[in-house]
Parts: sequence; structure tokens; C-alpha cells
Amino acid sequence: MTPPAQGERLTIEVDMVDLMRVRGGNPLRGEITVRGAKNFVAKAMVAALLGETPSVLRNVPLIRDVDVVAGLLRLHGVAVDYDDAGGVLQFDSSNVEIAHVRDIDAHAGSSRIPILFCGPLLHRLGEAFIPDLGGCHIGDRPIDYHLRILRDFGAVVDKQERGIHITAPRGLTGTKIELPYPSVGATEQTLLTAVRAAGKTQLKNAAIEPEIMDLIAVLQKMGAVISVDTDRVIRIEGVDRLTGYVHTSLPDRIEAASWASAALATSGDIYVRGAQQPDMMTYLNTFRKVGGVFEIDDEGIRFLHPGGELNSIVIETDVHPGFMTDWQQPLVVALTQARGLSIVHETVYENRFGFTEALNGMGAQIQVYRECLGQLECRFGQRNFYHSAAISGPTKLTAAEIVVPDLRGGFSHLIAALAAEGTSLVRGIEQINRGYEHFMRKLAALGADVEMV
Ligand code: EPU
Repeated sequence: MTPPAQGERLTIEVDMVDLMRVRGGNPLRGEITVRGAKNFVAKAMVAALLGETPSVLRNVPLIRDVDVVAGLLRLHGVAVDYDDAGGVLQFDSSNVEIAHVRDIDAHAGSSRIPILFCGPLLHRLGEAFIPDLGGCHIGDRPIDYHLRILRDFGAVVDKQERGIHITAPRGLTGTKIELPYPSVGATEQTLLTAVRAAGKTQLKNAAIEPEIMDLIAVLQKMGAVISVDTDRVIRIEGVDRLTGYVHTSLPDRIEAASWASAALATSGDIYVRGAQQPDMMTYLNTFRKVGGVFEIDDEGIRFLHPGGELNSIVIETDVHPGFMTDWQQPLVVALTQARGLSIVHETVYENRFGFTEALNGMGAQIQVYRECLGQLECRFGQRNFYHSAAISGPTKLTAAEIVVPDLRGGFSHLIAALAAEGTSLVRGIEQINRGYEHFMRKLAALGADVEMV
């Protein structure tokens, strides 16, 4: 495969729909394919910045977040080329350059990925500018861990009007870090910075999500020396030079679980090609306890509602290997159809139940609480956050006009509209493009009665 020409532009055309009419009440049935994990692919793209030779990333989905990161890379002089059919991204980072602040600002949009450009850009250019970050409105989503980590490595952080300017006048040196919470982003920040910092870095209380393990695999292919010990300790020995990589992304286990929950909520039957059992075990246990049936083969997983009533359940979201916070929202829609009282205790984000208001407007009975309705008191227990939900079911859902609040909440609203009797109007659908590839086509493949308005 030839590397892309310098300056070549990647243009990803994603489904551009903002208002959708959904005629609900029909089971979703059929087959869809999930490709690479959104929450890995973007990080692997950033890692390509560190390679002095070209990189190739396979199984890349056509989603807005990929488009944003590709654009940011191009602004920094990286040549990026995308082949949709094979989902192959190619990068040439041999001429990394400083980008204009205004361009970065304009391009980054709602993405939170720019914060991860810091380490690689400091190594390649000696400075980085990070615009104010967006992302889903699911809590404060601060970047204090990130900034502390960068300072620990020796970076100087200067907060400016439109963002943060970061320099490393004396270079970056390995350090000992202990995270207050096993944050995914902060662990990635440490990895992407430590691999080329001078000396050794030790990271305690690291996140160990499968997407992080895949990022470590990429970095090892590039020449990094990283070991993962027991008890969430990651050790990195800095090296002088990293080369490009060739890698195939792990599948998107959040998207796979979203479609699985859609099958439950609509009494459907969906084969998710590309879904893999090992990283979904916690979800699969829950799916089974709720009353869903799944069949696993080498190519994917079939998820179905076997008929009859679903069971209520108690769930606490957690870091890996716990029940992912991103699995919670679509499953809550299915739980509105389960008999009895289900409890969901959200322990990763303090404010991730905003989407339930619209579900209540459609006939669901979901009550949110400030208290920890779980086995353990979490970080949010003594604070003022509605982070537990009690869902009474089964309740009949009826059509409504809905405005999509964020990526996962938005997908949940869509599922609710598909499960509901009548015709719903769902506005702000465009947000779903951030993380669900070709979701309009997939809905059509599953027999959903939807149209753009
Ligand atoms: N946190 C801080 N300070 C920081 C960083 C994090 O207090 O500097 C807190 C957060 O506020 C949150 C907790 O730590 O309460 C965990 O956040 P984490 O850093 O793990 O999340 P993230 O890296 O920002 C990624 C995914 C999220 C996913 C979480 C948890 C990406 C781009 N995003 O976010 O995905 O929910 O890990 O698994 O990888 C999504 O896909 O819809 C999504 C939100």
C-alpha cells in the first residue's frame, strides 16, 4: 500500500440528518455490522502522530469523531487517506508542523480528543495548543487529571482565552503518577506522553479498558516498551524513536450492545456481525438476566427477545471489567419493558440520566435519585447529583417529539421511538453520527420505519 501524498485530504461523508420521523411499534429484525471502536480508533489516530514512518489503521468506522481527528491531524501536517470500503486509514506523520490556533479551534468542534494531542505534539514540536473542549453533556468532564499529568512530565501549561498553550522547555521526563480515579482519558494521556519521555514512568490506578489494551498494542508495534502489572499499574520505559504501525481496531462493543438493547426494547432479533464475546461478557450476563437470548458464533452475536416478559434487574456502572457507563442508556429503554423495579446506579459520570426525562414524557416511569442506590457508596454519594435511577415496568411507550441530548442518550431516544406506538419526531439526530456508523442504513436494514424530514 502506498503512503498518501503529503497534504492529501480525507473527506468522510457521514449521514447528515437532523430531523427524523419514526413510526414505532415494529420489532427490529435483521443483520448489521459493527466496525472498529470509536473510543479506540481516535486514540490510535493520535498515536500515529508519534510515528516517524507511515501508519495504517484498519476496521475504521465512518463516524464524525474520526472525521474530526483526521482533520486535526491534517492541520498538523499529517497526510491522511481513508478508504471507506475497507475502512482503512493511512497516515504519514513525517512532516508534523504547528497548526494555527484559529484552525484548531474551528475544527475541533465538540470533540474531546484534542487534549490527547498534547504529549505527541510536545515530543514532535515542543508545543501544543488545545482549544476549550466539548464532548457529551454528561457531567462536568474536567481535564484536571490531564493537566496534572502533563505538568508531572515537565510540561508548562498556560491557560489562555481560547484554550491552553503547552510547552516543554526542558523536554519531558518519566514520572510516577497515581490517578484519583481510573480515568480512560488520563491513562491514554499518560501512555501517549510517557512512550517518548526520558526514563521510566509508573502509572498507578490506571484504566484497563480493552480499548486501552489495544492502544498499548499499537504503541508496542511502534517501538514502545510498556508493561501492565496486576492491580492497575502500568509501567512505560521511554524510547528515543517510534515508527509507524499497521493495526486492525478491536470492534465497537458499545455500538454492539446498543443494537442488542434495541433488539430487547423492540421485541426484535438482531445479528450484530463483528460483535465479540470476550469484551462484552459483563453486558452479556446482564442481557441474559434481563431475559434476552444470545447466540455467539465466530463472526458475531445474535441478540433476541424470546417473547414473554423481561425481568427487572439491579446494575451498577463501573470501570472495566464492570458494566460500562455507555451500555447503560440503551438498556434503560429495554428496562422500561421489564416487569418490576429495576435500579441503575451510575458511578462513572455524575450526570448521565438527563435522557430519562424524555422517556418519562413517552410514558416510562423512571425516578432519579441523588442517593447511591447500589451496594457501595460511590464518589457522587454525598453530592448533589441525580446519579441513580429506578425504572418501573412494564410501561407502554407512546410517540413524542424528542430532542437528542447527547450521543448515547440520543440513541436511546431513537430506540424508545422505535418501541413506541405511533409516530415520533426526533430532532438533533446528527449527534448520533459521532459514534454510530451509517445508522440510517442500519435502521433500514433492520426494517425500521424511519425517514428524514
Ligand atoms: N475525570 C476527572 N478529571 C479528568 C478526567 C476524568 O474528574 O481530568 C472524571 C470524569 O469526569 C468522569 C471519570 O473521571 O467522572 C471518568 O472519565 P474518563 O476520563 O474515564 O472518560 P473519558 O476518557 O473522557 C472515555 C470515553 C467515554 C466513556 C468513558 C468511560 C472517549 C472519547 N470517551 O471518556 O465515551 O464513557 O471513557 O469509559 O474515549 C461515549 O462514547 O459516549 C463516551 C462518553
